[in-house]
Amino acid sequence: MSDLKINMNNLEEVKKSLDLRTLRICVIGIGRIGLPTALSFAKSGLQTIGVDINANLVQNINSGTFPLKDEPGYEEIFNEVLTKKTFSATTKIEDAVSNSDLILLSLPTPMDEKNIPDYSALSNVGSKLSEILSPNSLVIVESTVEPGFIEDEMISLITKSGRLKIKENFLIGVCPENANPGEILHDFTNLPRLVAGINNNVTQIIKMIYNFVFSVDLVEMPNCKTANAVKLTTNVFRDINIAFVNELALMFEKLGIDTKKVLEAAKMKYNFAVHYPGAGVGGPCLPINSYQLLNTARRAGVKLNMIESGRKINEKMPDHVIELTSDAFKECNKSLENSEILILGVSYKPNVKDIQLSPAKIIIKKFQDLGAKVHVYDPFFSSTKVFDLKVEDNLENILPNMDGAVIVTGHDDFKKIPISSFTKMKSPILIDTRGIIDPISAKKEKLIFRGLGRGDF
Ligand SMILES: NC(=O)c1ccc[n+]([C@@H]2O[C@H](COP(=O)([O-])OP(=O)(O)OC[C@H]3O[C@@H](n4cnc5c(N)ncnc54)[C@H](O)[C@@H]3O)[C@@H](O)[C@H]2O)c1
Repeated sequence: MSDLKINMNNLEEVKKSLDLRTLRICVIGIGRIGLPTALSFAKSGLQTIGVDINANLVQNINSGTFPLKDEPGYEEIFNEVLTKKTFSATTKIEDAVSNSDLILLSLPTPMDEKNIPDYSALSNVGSKLSEILSPNSLVIVESTVEPGFIEDEMISLITKSGRLKIKENFLIGVCPENANPGEILHDFTNLPRLVAGINNNVTQIIKMIYNFVFSVDLVEMPNCKTANAVKLTTNVFRDINIAFVNELALMFEKLGIDTKKVLEAAKMKYNFAVHYPGAGVGGPCLPINSYQLLNTARRAGVKLNMIESGRKINEKMPDHVIELTSDAFKECNKSLENSEILILGVSYKPNVKDIQLSPAKIIIKKFQDLGAKVHVYDPFFSSTKVFDLKVEDNLENILPNMDGAVIVTGHDDFKKIPISSFTKMKSPILIDTRGIIDPISAKKEKLIFRGLGRGDF
């Protein structure tokens, strides 16, 4: 263990270590959120080490290959901190932790096939920390966890070896991450962050450190569970609101009403928070966060009906994509069986390279189950394999071989495709699940067009 150890319970000592840039940081889990976090600390001049079990990732980082090409602004910071040697990565958690004062956990919190939250990465690292964490270190959990997880699980895991005593020589707090993939630099430098520690002193210390690195508003929460409740509330609000507009979109479609027009007008009202319908809700946050709160509710013996219904609605949206496509095929007297279908977009959201819980996976499987031959085009994954399919790298070449195309992700690149390109398909069937195609233009081009929630034109 290094003898430069800073007492993280002593506000003055931590302040001095920031001024002198002697505070040493270890970020465990350097993925989508952890890497930009580690880079932000390193850029502020603090010696930072990233720990990850993914040896390839660690090797790539140390050899200068930046892994998050879809995060604008970070490649420059990455190159800068590697050159200045304030950042490096390792797979060796023991060395990294014992040579650090502040340990940030940015570990994944996914869910299993039964939608039960999976905290195994945090639990494994928590148990490890109980063996290796130096006294008077501070652990901050940035991962999204359920309210009470820190108080009921994490503290007992880290203190189970008996070496560390909470509030005496072991300090913990949270700063739940709320950045948006693809916009992390913007969000890290603009969005307020929630902070909470196991006591007020720890909260003030966390505030001081994050203020030093991020210079954003830091909102003090009374305790960790409240901070985590806020984080989940904001995301679940979105999941439920998307379900609300998805349900309306299904009805408006039948009534010949364009949901997009409804929402554009509705959002002019000051207290309307606009959300958009689509092929489904994926990603590492919204669906999981809803199931995390449902899990909390189960443990608390209460029922959260609205979240449950919202999930059901959002999870049914891929079925509607199939219905729209079948309907368009019927209009051309064609069958989905043996048809060649092009899926445009596999990412769960526009303009990022990320397929976690993407509705595209479910939609592709449903088409395949109906006997269709599915092809995939997504500029973020060109020439790679996704969901066992080779991603096409040239849209113009593939379109003439297709019987129909389905836009599943609203990438900006897809908005630039001339609508006339779709007329080159064997049958001009275009399904737009993200509201990026103007139905009038589609009609002018004589496409067999179906827009999710767009009504008749
Ligand atoms: N991605 C987002 O949009 C987003 C936004 C806000 C909050 N979050 C939350 O942030 C947390 C991290 O999410 P992410 O998207 O960065 O995940 P990620 O999967 O991109 O990164 C997690 C990293 O942790 C590593 N890892 C897994 N187990 C490990 C272990 N035992 N030891 C060391 N490293 C380990 C993985 O190899 C991976 O590199 C999650 O709780 C997530 O809910 C994510």
